[in-house]
Amino acid sequence: MKFYIETFGCQMNEHDSEKMSHLLRINGFTPTKEVKDADLVIVNTCSIREKAEQKFYSLLGRFKKLKDKKGIILGVTGCIAQQEKEALKERLPFIDFALGPSGIHTVIDAVTSSRDGRFFYNFSENGCVAPLFLRPEPARGSIKAYVTIMKGCNNFCSYCIVPYVRGREASRESGDILEEIENLARKGIKEVILLGQNVNSYNKGRDDLSFPALLEEINEIHGIERIRFVTSHPKDLSDELIGCFGMLDKLCEQIHLPFQSGSDRILELMNRGYTVSEYMDKIDRLRSACSDIAITADCIVGFPGEDEQAFKETVELVKNVELDGIFSFAYSKRKNTAAANLDGEVPKDVALKRLQHLQGIQKAITLKKNQAAEGRVFDVLVEGRSKNSKDELTGRTRHNRIVNFRGDTDMIGKIVNVKVIRGYANSLKGEIA
Ligand code: SAH
Ligand code: SF4
Ligand code: F3S
Repeated sequence: MKFYIETFGCQMNEHDSEKMSHLLRINGFTPTKEVKDADLVIVNTCSIREKAEQKFYSLLGRFKKLKDKKGIILGVTGCIAQQEKEALKERLPFIDFALGPSGIHTVIDAVTSSRDGRFFYNFSENGCVAPLFLRPEPARGSIKAYVTIMKGCNNFCSYCIVPYVRGREASRESGDILEEIENLARKGIKEVILLGQNVNSYNKGRDDLSFPALLEEINEIHGIERIRFVTSHPKDLSDELIGCFGMLDKLCEQIHLPFQSGSDRILELMNRGYTVSEYMDKIDRLRSACSDIAITADCIVGFPGEDEQAFKETVELVKNVELDGIFSFAYSKRKNTAAANLDGEVPKDVALKRLQHLQGIQKAITLKKNQAAEGRVFDVLVEGRSKNSKDELTGRTRHNRIVNFRGDTDMIGKIVNVKVIRGYANSLKGEIA
């Protein structure tokens, strides 16, 4: 039986798809890159914003046609499944199974049951940590791998659906994580990306390693050359973790630290738990611990109550802080979240205008930073051939910037010195130094 998985959403979801794919493969299923060849189609969904949901529903319309034509098994997993639960089956009666993020370990049961014509679902709530223990084998030739260190989120930012669909925080034992990474290193993995909604809460209240202590241990693992992690919450970013940058040689000089808004009033409405000056203070500390650390962030515009003044403050923050990149989004109202009941809704067209304005400002800052890299030589971990050009390879600097350059395919998986010859808005062009 051939299977195809379509994935929406964040790295956690990508990794969940890898976990399901692993379970399917060891149970005799074969992956295919072409949905038309598949007998089993799984859509791993995201409900972070309305747009992600709409994309899913329109894709499912297409997959229904495929089902009508050749009788595939069609399953829906991930955050929309968890959010809608049984109602999903009412809305999409043709689906064969539905699994929330905490139920993906039952994918084989789901398929077996579907084959027998019985609808299967698993929306095991918060308590279920079984997916934390799945260790997908890296695909042959992989250079980097995700490793889940914790699940869930307790922060309840007022706009965010994640705590409702991913449940409460739960950490995985450090011994188990280290063993997985040692195993990955033996399989040729050079870079690990540690995953958790809020990695600074790793092992909070438990008698096990703290997050910085975990990083120290991973730093000792032979064969691993780079360590990254996502995501940190500014309110929980400790001095101890900041001190790891520039101290642990394998920890890449890069952090994603969302600020969400430049207005204290909006931050409070968002329930973020910090002020703009506290955020800026964390940035200063990061930069003094590690002068050329690359910092990226997320930002929401058009949050309820965001007036021109509040937006201006966000623009000021963006101009002042000069981050390496910002992922900015127009606020999207999510069912059952606290912000859904707030007054002061910002009209869609106003929010989109603000978004464009902000993105224009950041684009210029990112471009300026990428151009400043011209002439400098970087360690680049070569990931593969470039998508845009047959003769070029692609890789990343420790700062997580993408570099394309001419080189031999035997460089793939190695760290090479590349001199940047051109900085663009989204990538760098280089040559072997
Ligand atoms: N755990 C991560 C973020 C997960 S969601 C963290 O806390 O940093 C990724 C980003 O999506 C968020 O940082 C936020 O900027 C954006 N986002 C979340 N909910 C949103 C909503 N309702 N509307 C618009 N953007 C949203
Ligand atoms: Fe959502 Fe906030 Fe948790 Fe991030 S920290 S996942 S934005 S609730
Ligand atoms: Fe990720 Fe989307 Fe779920 S961002 S946690 S897949 S809602």
